[in-house]
Amino acid sequence: MSDTPDRRTADANMQWGGRFAAGPSAVMQEINASIGFDRKMWRQDIRGSQAHAAMLARMGIIPAADADNIGRGLAEIGAEIAAGRFAFDTALEDIHMNIEARLTERIGEAGKRLHTGRSRNDQVATDFRLWVRDAIDGLDAQIADVMRALATRAAAHAADPMPGFTHLQTAQPVTFGHHLLAYVEMLARDRGRLADGRRRLNECPLGAAALAGTSFPIDRDATAAALGFDRPAANSLDAVSDRDFALEFLAAAAISAMHLSRLAEEIVIWCSAPFGFVRLSDAFTTGSSIMPQKRNPDAAELVRAKTGRVNGALVGLLTVMKGLPLAYAKDMQEDKEPVFDAAEAWALSLAAIAGMVRDMTPDTARLRAFAGSGFATATDLADWLVRVLQLPFRTAHHVTGRLVARAEARGVDLAGLTLADMQAEEPRITEDVFSVLTVEASVASRTSYGGTAPANVARQAARWLAVLA
Ligand code: ARG
Repeated sequence: MSDTPDRRTADANMQWGGRFAAGPSAVMQEINASIGFDRKMWRQDIRGSQAHAAMLARMGIIPAADADNIGRGLAEIGAEIAAGRFAFDTALEDIHMNIEARLTERIGEAGKRLHTGRSRNDQVATDFRLWVRDAIDGLDAQIADVMRALATRAAAHAADPMPGFTHLQTAQPVTFGHHLLAYVEMLARDRGRLADGRRRLNECPLGAAALAGTSFPIDRDATAAALGFDRPAANSLDAVSDRDFALEFLAAAAISAMHLSRLAEEIVIWCSAPFGFVRLSDAFTTGSSIMPQKRNPDAAELVRAKTGRVNGALVGLLTVMKGLPLAYAKDMQEDKEPVFDAAEAWALSLAAIAGMVRDMTPDTARLRAFAGSGFATATDLADWLVRVLQLPFRTAHHVTGRLVARAEARGVDLAGLTLADMQAEEPRITEDVFSVLTVEASVASRTSYGGTAPANVARQAARWLAVLA
């Protein structure tokens, strides 16, 4: 980026130079410029300007020949930027003025007609909405990809038991597939949040001009339609000055990042040697420079950590917006970096999670062994007492608790107790009780809707794979 004013910016700014005799101080220029980051929106800026120019010509506001030149000139500028041949200039402040100045440089006077009936305020609001909308569409596809990866693995492990936890203490056996499908449900809601936000975002600010609308006979329906918006925004003040669409995006990002972070945390725990539930390949682990045995799940840790910057982005932009009187204020230029950063962190986290889910190898024998440890089938025993002996559940809970204590004292699990041990606590217990104490019997019995029975899990995995196909 060049810091020396060239002929486009000499003396004073070409966009408002009429009123200004001198240029800005260096620090003014530095704090004011957004070109360092808003250049990311160049595609959206060009699209928006092309739609605007075409509409101006159609409405007889500018000559058709000028609009043609503008459209073509903008396309050529797009090619320059794409090829890395565009000289971004800090003195021209932002992407809007960089492109407009270049347009006039390329096509002459006609370029100066582009900004008729428009302000940078509606322009930036439009560009940013288009950018966020594109980001939503990309992220939505990425979330669907993670869901597909999870559902595929869930289908394969629908019947493989693992310990289910509450408080990270062994609770009841579940299947590995069931556990993975829990995340599929979360991610489906994340997609829902994106879709909701997209619906509300999809109104076009273009034509709101600076804040009050314009006296030119513009066709806002036409520009809205050309840019794929559902309709023009109905209030010009609101159109240029709210950033709730960006906040909804960040809120959706923060919630989704939280989901990804929980899965990442589980992967970290599962990979830890004392757990040893899953193994990540060399592709998703790193070594230690001193400890030769190490295989660190850095990608999972970083997904967990990226949540911090996404949350920060949400809180940051909420804070920028909270005290602003209507309509536009330059504070709003601070809306972009947090959104760009959060979108990048979210996309990278999704890619890393998709990669790890496809990469990891569960140790099914170990998962099965731990599924039965820690008296995980105690609830099954209590349920048997209720079902077969008609004990009230509270009583059954108590009897089972005493049996667990007995087993613990003896150093065996529940299935390791003898019938005589059982009958010492409740004389009516029969040999049949042992049939519910295996993890297989336990998970198979959880047939209630949404439960972990392998048949349920297989059905849910198949349903998701069909939805995501
Ligand atoms: N770069 C500015 C932004 O991102 C564009 C809008 C500037 N508008 C103005 N009235 N100075 O917010």
